Amino acid sequence: MIHKIKEGWKRTALSLLGVSVFSLLWNITEAQVRYTIPEELKEGFVVGNLAKDLGFDVSDIAHRKLRITSESSGQYFRVDSEKGDLVVNGRIDREGICAQSGSCLLQLQVVIENPLQLHRVEIEVQDINDNAPNFHTKDGVLKIPESSSTGARFPLESAEDLDVGSNSLSSYSLSKNDFFRLNVKTLKDGRKVPELIVDKPLDREKQSVHKLILTALDGGNPVKSGTALVQIIVQDVNDNEPKFEVSAYKAQVHESAVAGSNVIQIKATDLDEGSNSEVEYYFGAHTTDSVKRAFSVNPDTGDITVLGHLDYEITKSYTFDVCAKDKGNPALEGHSPVHIDIVDENDNAPEIIFTSLPSPVPENATIGTVVALINVRDLDSADNGKVEINISPNFPFKLKPSFDNHYSLITDSRLDREVKSDYNVKIIAHDSGVPSLKSEKVVNVKILDVNDNPPIFAQPSYSVYVKENKQAGNTLISLKAFDTDTDKNALVSYSILDSKMNQVPASSYFYINSENGTLYTMSSFDYEKIKMLSIIVQAKDNGSPSLSSNATVHVFIVDQNDNAPAVIYPSALMGSVSHQRLPRSAKAGHLVTKVTAVDADSGHNAWISYRLAEATDASLFTVSLHTGEVRTKRSVSEQDDSSQRLLIEIKDNGEPVQSTTVTLDILIEDAFHEPISDFRHKNPEPDQKSGKITLYLMISLASVSFLCLVTFFVLLIKCARGSRGSSTCCIRRSDGESKNHNRNLQIQLNTDGPIKYVEVLGGDMMSQSQSFGSYLSPMSEFSDFTLVKPSSTTDFTNTLSVLDASLPDSTWTFESQQVRGKAQILIRCPTLKLSM
Ligand SMILES: *[C@@H]1O[C@H](CO)[C@@H](O)[C@H](O)[C@H]1NC(C)=O
Ligand SMILES: *[C@@H]1O[C@H](CO)[C@@H](O)[C@H](O)[C@H]1NC(C)=O
Repeated sequence: MIHKIKEGWKRTALSLLGVSVFSLLWNITEAQVRYTIPEELKEGFVVGNLAKDLGFDVSDIAHRKLRITSESSGQYFRVDSEKGDLVVNGRIDREGICAQSGSCLLQLQVVIENPLQLHRVEIEVQDINDNAPNFHTKDGVLKIPESSSTGARFPLESAEDLDVGSNSLSSYSLSKNDFFRLNVKTLKDGRKVPELIVDKPLDREKQSVHKLILTALDGGNPVKSGTALVQIIVQDVNDNEPKFEVSAYKAQVHESAVAGSNVIQIKATDLDEGSNSEVEYYFGAHTTDSVKRAFSVNPDTGDITVLGHLDYEITKSYTFDVCAKDKGNPALEGHSPVHIDIVDENDNAPEIIFTSLPSPVPENATIGTVVALINVRDLDSADNGKVEINISPNFPFKLKPSFDNHYSLITDSRLDREVKSDYNVKIIAHDSGVPSLKSEKVVNVKILDVNDNPPIFAQPSYSVYVKENKQAGNTLISLKAFDTDTDKNALVSYSILDSKMNQVPASSYFYINSENGTLYTMSSFDYEKIKMLSIIVQAKDNGSPSLSSNATVHVFIVDQNDNAPAVIYPSALMGSVSHQRLPRSAKAGHLVTKVTAVDADSGHNAWISYRLAEATDASLFTVSLHTGEVRTKRSVSEQDDSSQRLLIEIKDNGEPVQSTTVTLDILIEDAFHEPISDFRHKNPEPDQKSGKITLYLMISLASVSFLCLVTFFVLLIKCARGSRGSSTCCIRRSDGESKNHNRNLQIQLNTDGPIKYVEVLGGDMMSQSQSFGSYLSPMSEFSDFTLVKPSSTTDFTNTLSVLDASLPDSTWTFESQQVRGKAQILIRCPTLKLSM
């Protein structure tokens, strides 16, 4: 209706209708005139005809001086004095005049004169929607923790609308978004307050700022609105744990890595912000001590470094958890497993272990006998742990692999304790790492003795000399046999092997100390009976079975000068006289006779010298020192006595000297004489004296024969040796045709002119046939003997060495020569020359 009025006021055609409306109102209020106008009318707008409405005649108005007197409201209106119209005089702002009060009435007092009358006019100013809702803060910030639950409410700033009534603020709206909605709360006084409600959980990490537009609307027509920007800042809450970049870490580190070496860097990120995103690194809660000893984690950088000593052989890999922790409150943690492989290095030398210590090996052990069991190991792996094993070369051992890294040390060749009694076998093991490591062990292998060596004498034979006639119980020699074995295998005992000597057991002559091999005599010896004895001494060890060896001991009886020379020719004994003849015509140097003597002793003791001791006429005769030849010194003269007596002393060379004498009666004859043809015929009747001579001769011959026999052996053996070489040797044997068919002692004198020789035949003294010839060469300084060994003699070789050594006086020389196709061996000593 008001609207209509206003329209009406705009169009004069409708003004009447409007007046009637006001009049109607007037009428209602009776004494008062009341107008209703909207606010903000233009100046000059005619509100109404006041004169008429107050019941005055318009024509009177002019002189009745109609005017407005109220001061407060008077400024908005004036009265047209001509027509009596109430006209808008200034801007009527309802909000300025009445603020927010519901109705706005302006009171006007109108005065009219003639008669003076006072009227009151009321003008109601009606609101129009001329104000939009308005926010005081256009750009507000609201902080909401992201942890706010859905439904949480946060008050927003209210808007203000100056209009009243329906034109005042009526509703709010919020710009479209996913997280918030708006709630408008109406307070008791009717004010409407907007609230922001969290509609969906917030996540700062997804959207940290939300910008919303809050719109306030009034109820006017058309509607007016006002907006404010609400910026919602989602406050961080520590709702994200740090996250590692990889789900599991893997790394490798060499076992030799020193403390401080970097292994790997771990990194975790935290979506939160600020201290909620500041990450520190730690070991996981259940990390073992071994890991903590080996590695450390830098809390700030996440570097995992080596802390302690790594050893592949103890731990091949480490697996543990790392934890990243933020600094929020409460702090959140993230975890990740870390696997660190330790890379093997060749840091372990191979080890040599004896599973069984070397046992001593008997020297006769067969090849392949196990000596020791060896195991090698290397803690490293792969090539670093692959071990090769060797032993020092040139030892009679080798290694035989069995299984895995087990070996047997076995013998490889024959052992001989006597050559080497123990071995220090060096065992060398080296691995295949680069560089290779090696280790060595020396093992001592002892070789056990086996009785494989007999005791050995230093010489196969020994020669000892014992003087004849010496008392029994003499130490002859200490024999020593060495046994290279040890202990009881080398414990030697000595014994004499009972061999028969001349039908008498050797043990009856000698005794040997079985412990130290000292050999004693048990009887005295007579050189003239026994010249040499050979005994076999056996040395026997104590092994099982025992071994033995023999040595021959040749015991030579050394001659003592216990026999005086015995005169063989002339057959004069004990000073008895021998008769010789000499022609008075004999010239100087005429051989009268030859004295021949023998000595049962040998060597020097048997060297006989002749000397003229006494003579009737010492100027007439001389005796050859060596040959015993008695010769004239000068021509026999007529003055010389026809009977001459010579005393010839015959001495041996022994100590003390033994001597004998022979007396020669020489008859110097003037006439020619018959030579003595046969000594036997000369003395045909065997008387007492010749019997004695025969006995002495027999003794002498026996002695000489023995010497000859011995010498003969020497020569024969020399021959035997020589025949092995290129030279030939002929042994002349005396056959039956030799002159010894007469078994009796026979002395033949060859008296063909001077006596040239004496030949002694036969004689069965030592049950050995022999012949003995003494060739007497007048010009020789030596005696020549021809020795003929009878054929019955055997076994020369046995005495070979004996005879070599049997001549204590090395002035003896041997030589062989060919005489008329026959071998002759000459034995020479200074005074003797034996030939064969
Ligand atoms: C051997 O033993 C005997 C008796 O005990 C002792 O008289 C002799 O001197 C010893 N001989 C050696 C060479 O030891
Ligand atoms: C030692 O001599 C004896 C007797 O002649 C003999 O039986 C034995 O075999 C000899 N031993 C050795 C080792 O020659």
